[in-house]
Amino acid sequence: MSARTKDIELHDVEQRFHARGSATGFLTAVHETSFTLRSDPPHIVSLVGQSGSGKSTIARIILGLQRPTSGTVTYGGKDIFKLSRAEYDDYRRNVQPVFQDPYAIFNPVYRVDRVLRTAIKKFGLTKSKARAQELMEESLRAVKLDPAQVLGRYPHQLSGGQRQRIMLARVHMLRPAFIIADEPVSMLDAQVRKLFLDILVDFQRAYGMTTLFITHDLSTVYYVGGDVMVITKGRVVERGPVAQVMHTPSHSYTKMLLASVPQPDPDKRWTDRIDIEEADREEAAPEVPTSDPARVPRP
Ligand SMILES: Nc1ncnc2c1ncn2[C@@H]1O[C@H](COP(=O)(O)OP(=O)(O)OP(=O)(O)O)[C@@H](O)[C@H]1O
Ligand SMILES: [Mg+2]
Repeated sequence: MSARTKDIELHDVEQRFHARGSATGFLTAVHETSFTLRSDPPHIVSLVGQSGSGKSTIARIILGLQRPTSGTVTYGGKDIFKLSRAEYDDYRRNVQPVFQDPYAIFNPVYRVDRVLRTAIKKFGLTKSKARAQELMEESLRAVKLDPAQVLGRYPHQLSGGQRQRIMLARVHMLRPAFIIADEPVSMLDAQVRKLFLDILVDFQRAYGMTTLFITHDLSTVYYVGGDVMVITKGRVVERGPVAQVMHTPSHSYTKMLLASVPQPDPDKRWTDRIDIEEADREEAAPEVPTSDPARVPRP
């Protein structure tokens, strides 16, 4: 099976953590969650929810960094925690992470080029030094960075937006089938944020990459389009095409999220109080109203 036809499927994934002080001794960060990230046709699925709702836990599970308490994640139908060495290498190549601030990924004592060179070496893109240089420059330009300005620099000599785009250049070099992007734009200013999101959408169109875009910011969800899943307290409570969910939200938590988008009208801003506990009370038995977002055809 070629990488481009393999989907990532979560089946009843549940993640519990030990939690001292809680009545049960544990907290459930993710409750039996199932969804599919389809590689063909490529698409963008946003996962939106407030802090602590379980978004990063889901990202870590998909990336194989965290083994769920129960349930499975499959790639091309195979459990990702039971892949052979060769299958796991294929998975690592085809499922690439982008995190909020990639500073931690850069070793401060090495020039930023290393992040790109390591990928070339690890995934055997080329053995030729000249070709490696070409690949790096090509990919930096693809993310609107000037190779002459960033190659040879140390991580602290770049802005957060530049560091973030170097991680995108790495993604561009590897051409994975999937990007798992956990709050990639939360620390960027509006202009760089737009540039970054445009590049994600370009990658989908030009190279067929499917992105799981994790965010707490609804305006970015609206901007990238595609499908959205709304998560609260470890449960996906609503899913569907972005326009549908935003214009006709069916879950009270989604309505609350929409109401919390800052209003340009200052009088309105101060009168609309947001009560998350109330939204939770109204929705005692959350239901997922629409089918799997990955199965919803894109316009
Ligand atoms: N390793 C861990 N051990 C114990 N609890 C954890 C662990 N990782 C996450 N949690 C808890 O699980 C819940 C979900 O955390 P998670 O990081 O997935 O949330 P999030 O939606 O990504 O939040 P944010 O928007 O702040 O990044 C939180 O209550 C968190 O404290
Ligand atoms: Mg998080």
